[in-house]
Amino acid sequence: MHPEVETAKKVLAQLESFKKIVGAEYVAVDQESLDQYAHDETENLHYPPDVVIRPRTAEEISAIMVICNEHVIPVTPRGAGTGLSGGALPNFGGVLISTDRMNAILNIDERNLQVITEPGVITEVLQNAVKEKGLFYPPDPSSRGSCFIGGNIAENSGGPKAVKYGVVKDYVLNLQVVLPTGEIIWTGANVLKNSTGYNLTQLVVGSEGTLGIVTKIVLKLLPYPKHELLMLVPFASLEKAGEAVSAIFRAGFTPSAMELMEIDALRIVSEFVGSNMVPVGDGVEAHLIIEVDGNHAETLMKEMESIAELLAEFDCGEIFFADDAQQKEALWKLRRRVAEAVKIDGYSIEEDTVVPRAELPALIRGVKALGIQYDFKAVCYGHAGDGNLHIRIKKPGSIYSLNNPDVIPALRALFELVKHLGGTISGEHGIGLVQKEYMDIVFSTASLQLMWGIKKVFDPHGILNRGKIFD
Ligand code: LAC
Ligand code: ZN
Repeated sequence: MHPEVETAKKVLAQLESFKKIVGAEYVAVDQESLDQYAHDETENLHYPPDVVIRPRTAEEISAIMVICNEHVIPVTPRGAGTGLSGGALPNFGGVLISTDRMNAILNIDERNLQVITEPGVITEVLQNAVKEKGLFYPPDPSSRGSCFIGGNIAENSGGPKAVKYGVVKDYVLNLQVVLPTGEIIWTGANVLKNSTGYNLTQLVVGSEGTLGIVTKIVLKLLPYPKHELLMLVPFASLEKAGEAVSAIFRAGFTPSAMELMEIDALRIVSEFVGSNMVPVGDGVEAHLIIEVDGNHAETLMKEMESIAELLAEFDCGEIFFADDAQQKEALWKLRRRVAEAVKIDGYSIEEDTVVPRAELPALIRGVKALGIQYDFKAVCYGHAGDGNLHIRIKKPGSIYSLNNPDVIPALRALFELVKHLGGTISGEHGIGLVQKEYMDIVFSTASLQLMWGIKKVFDPHGILNRGKIFD
């Protein structure tokens, strides 16, 4: 029997048990539901599960996991499906667990500056809820208006503010996790310091749903900064823009965002959202979006002026200062929608490379050279302040990177370059399904075996998010 047929039969045999656990209305096997959960935002991949289950509690997930573990049924956990590495794709069929009903913010602790939340809360909803109390949860992936906080934990997401405030891992204090065997554990404690045993919390953060299903999340918060200033800086040369980035940090500034957009990215996204806010004229290869934030408006103004003076040394053009909240939002909207816009424009293959910040110009040069060598077009954008460059690739006739003999040699060459520059494959999107092919470039066999050993301790039957990160 084909493994997929065998899995489908096993799922069918357990349907009544699943319905008893969560209620029949939350167990779906109709084709429309299966198709809806067959894809995320990664390329154009499609893998339908055999059943979609939408539990409400950790206890329900635990009961489902006990059954799946006993019968060796593959389980794929899923947040909002906005991922870019295929982490939520049910590539072995089986059970898909959607966390969308686990969407309560349980407690905003204003005394301790913490929040306890369920995983199915939309990141922006969580940010706004704490902001109402004057509190700040900084990690802000571009998809924050639709992604779930649980998915952000799974992928260790970042976003523009990471350059000053860090990524998801820097905010997670404690997690409730359902293990593949059904046990429910807490990984740590709701404290700011913790030297008590192995750091299970940080092991689960970024584990892409392969070690357990996160059911409660305790996050650290900050006081919300009172002011922020935003500017957009054009550069005649993409590489010079890259050079300016590390110069700003070397000069002692830490902007709260430092984003790069190659001109093609700006042109495509401007058309996509119907905006003519930024003129896309000749003689400009790239823009930097630079934001500073803090509690004293005058200090910030001085800081912006000093940064602007420094930028003049890198052949920048006329700087645009976003005056009011509306302009700032319009500029951020352009930046946030780049991924979506360039994908629709045919740049379907996405990479999430990260190098030490000062190597950014070398990476940009290398990408362009590889494009000529391997016959692809690349558009670059992303979190320049972190050295985290999103590279979108368009190659005539190729919409997939997965197992595509046309694309694999080019991506191997790209990741070899990234490694040579001291960087790695993914800064914030994860390895998932589409990058696992390349893990040998950045990890030795001993490191990979160690990871595999950890996976086996958590998941002896290999049922949870099988085939993600490694085979
Ligand atoms: C961004 C997402 C794709 O930076 O990470 O827009
Ligand atoms: Zn990003």
